[in-house]
Amino acid sequence: MAVTRTFSIIKPDATRRNLTGAVTKMLEDAGLRVVASKRIHMTREQAEGFYAVHKERPFYGELCDFMTSGPVVVQVLEGEDAVKRNRDVMGATNPADAAEGTIRKTYAESIEANSVHGSDSDENAATEIRFFFSDDELVG
Ligand code: CMP
Repeated sequence: MAVTRTFSIIKPDATRRNLTGAVTKMLEDAGLRVVASKRIHMTREQAEGFYAVHKERPFYGELCDFMTSGPVVVQVLEGEDAVKRNRDVMGATNPADAAEGTIRKTYAESIEANSVHGSDSDENAATEIRFFFSDDELVG
């Protein structure tokens, strides 16, 4: 299986509860390596741009409000089949549907405050990594 990269966000509900380390440990225990990480407070422009694919969805405005409501930690994760590996450990978008032992089952508060974001394909991972990181910030 190829070693690939994916993009992750530890969301404001998790940073507010001081869960950055706990969430990162679950990612690392799942076989992912953090090769870039920074704590930022997203601007409205960044949130709207990052989630532009959801622009027509009814939750878009509230999603952007939430993602700018506090600090987030944006990360690049590396590992075998990183996109799938990360999605498996994150669990379903809605914590009510998430499997036991996943990050969202363990920590998420709601479908919006669901603690983590992860890319859904290799192609989107590359786009999302580029949105927040320059090449020299990725240190494998
Ligand atoms: P994320 O992986 O960050 O991508 C889009 C986010 O929209 C998603 O996680 C959810 O946290 C959020 N969201 C809020 N409401 C909904 C909803 N009704 N359906 C899907 N996603 C939602």
